[in-house]
Amino acid sequence: RFFASVSIRVQETWSPTSWQSRKLAQPIDYPDPGTLQAVLAQLHKLPPLVTSWEIETLREHLADAARGERFLLQGGDCSESFDECTPATLAQKLKIILQMSVILVYGCKKRVILVGRYAGQYAKPRSSLTETRDGLTLPSYRGDTINQVGFSPAERTPDPRLLLAGYHHSALTLNFIRSLVQGGFADLHHTEYWDLGFVRHSPQAQEYRAMVERIADAIRFMETCASMPVGDLNRTEFFTSHEGLNLWFEQALTHQVPRRAGWYNLGTHFPWIGDRTRGVDGAHVEYFRGLRNPIAVKIGPTITPDELLDLIGRLNPDEEPGRLTLIHRFGAGRIAGCLPPLLAAVQRAGKRVLWSCDPMHGNLQITRDGLKTRRFDDILAELEQAFAIHRDAHSILGGVHFELTGEDVTECIGGARGLTEDDLSRAYKSQVDPRLNYEQAMEIALRVARCMRAQSSPASLG
Ligand code: PEP
Ligand code: CO
Repeated sequence: RFFASVSIRVQETWSPTSWQSRKLAQPIDYPDPGTLQAVLAQLHKLPPLVTSWEIETLREHLADAARGERFLLQGGDCSESFDECTPATLAQKLKIILQMSVILVYGCKKRVILVGRYAGQYAKPRSSLTETRDGLTLPSYRGDTINQVGFSPAERTPDPRLLLAGYHHSALTLNFIRSLVQGGFADLHHTEYWDLGFVRHSPQAQEYRAMVERIADAIRFMETCASMPVGDLNRTEFFTSHEGLNLWFEQALTHQVPRRAGWYNLGTHFPWIGDRTRGVDGAHVEYFRGLRNPIAVKIGPTITPDELLDLIGRLNPDEEPGRLTLIHRFGAGRIAGCLPPLLAAVQRAGKRVLWSCDPMHGNLQITRDGLKTRRFDDILAELEQAFAIHRDAHSILGGVHFELTGEDVTECIGGARGLTEDDLSRAYKSQVDPRLNYEQAMEIALRVARCMRAQSSPASLG
């Protein structure tokens, strides 16, 4: 009866296309509406990438995380690219997320929900929708499903056929990751599968190995006592997420399913609304409010407590557990001012959400050579403050959100190897935001694990 009442209310005013009558932030200018509609019809007919069963499971897990019984680890590229849809790149990305999850499990003694920023993270908001070079102004690069990086009118004009290419690349990505995960690659008995050769000598390798050894010991101990394998350790669940920026695309992937009420976005388990598109009366909030998926919203320094409460009311009117995740991203210098009033407002209103911290997007800087970078110390400082602020407010920080890669890139400054501005040009590959490299990601996970151990042990409080 509960689901029936939800769906009746939603259906009265909402449809997968009702966003089209709202104000659209970050619009995409398709010059040929006929081709766009033909592509959308084709996308809608294709088999889905994920199922409502998985989506329902994830919502339950996220509800656990909001109660402090699980922890959300969400990470991947700022933006995926078709060129990097290769077995090596995908496996590296999976390895780093698996290794981080082991560290976090060890730190918080909770199950970790693994969510990749991939298999669909192809559409980007930009601070400027146009770019000018030598007097020529063209649309900015908006991600591989919208236009191309090259700076010519043909490459920068949004092309709807890229949406189909994106769907295919997402399917290939998901197929490979799922096969690895389900085939045994993610088995906690075999963490050696995830070793990345080039980091054997990294400063964190030893601490990580020691943790893995202790976990392996615990597993062996339990299996010896029980005289059988500990269930589920070889069956890691993996979920996907992306920013639902291009509502044409998201609309085409929105379906009803047999035996369940409501509408599901079957292109990803866990879509999110970006900080630039979260206007409460805007098109994105309108589209997202009608989905059955668990959803997230990124919130930056400009949000007010009242706006946040409006957003929560609009996106989770029935207060469903696990439905809404708020990913805060203020920057190391601003979190102390921005976060406490929001936590207080949400608590006063008696709302239950899952809080997650993205320590990446509030900490962007431009180097003197014009490269976008982030300082490792700022990322860490924002995270550490986030844990402390939530703890002091008796709130729960139930997740973290990172931009990272399993490769040895040099895009963020600092970390155990002390990368400097001068190192950045050595291996700077991102077309959009700078990512933590493998070692930096490991180090962050180790620090987060320490914060969580401190949080859960009363002796170390105060
Ligand atoms: C992102 O996640 O890449 C992004 C653009 O984030 P935000 O919306 O928080 O700026
Ligand atoms: Co980004």
